[in-house]
Amino acid sequence: MRILIIHGPNLNLLDKRDRSIYGEESLEQINRLIENKAIELGMEVEIFQSNHEGQIVDKIQEIMKSGYAGLIINPAGFTHYSIVIRDAIEILGIPVIEVHLSNIYGREDFRKESVIAPVCTGQISGLGSISYLVAMDALKLLNK
Ligand code: DQA
Repeated sequence: MRILIIHGPNLNLLDKRDRSIYGEESLEQINRLIENKAIELGMEVEIFQSNHEGQIVDKIQEIMKSGYAGLIINPAGFTHYSIVIRDAIEILGIPVIEVHLSNIYGREDFRKESVIAPVCTGQISGLGSISYLVAMDALKLLNK
């Protein structure tokens, strides 16, 4: 099975962001953990990072035709207001898991709302890089 992982804006600079909130790992280190987990689960994983809302929408539309078994997305700041990413996910037709490194419910009020989570299969928030790995386990189980 093949899955796509999307990292949203500013996650490319994770090593410059607040480590007490987002953890110690750089995005490259998280991607290595994801790749190792994919091998363990016998999955093929594609990883995409973008700071641009339209590019994320294009990527979601692209996988509509290509037989992916699931999408894991950390929409980062777009979580809280991107209706266009929400609309793209709503019509995707495969399991989608929204992930966050931090626990968005334990932070500022503006982070407590996700406009995207209601159209996702599920959400995992607050486990650091483990959020992505648990989401991969979930996609594997959902596709059994
Ligand atoms: C984040 C939480 C968002 O509120 C924030 O804008 C991010 C990262 C997380 O993974 O904890 O950039 O999605």
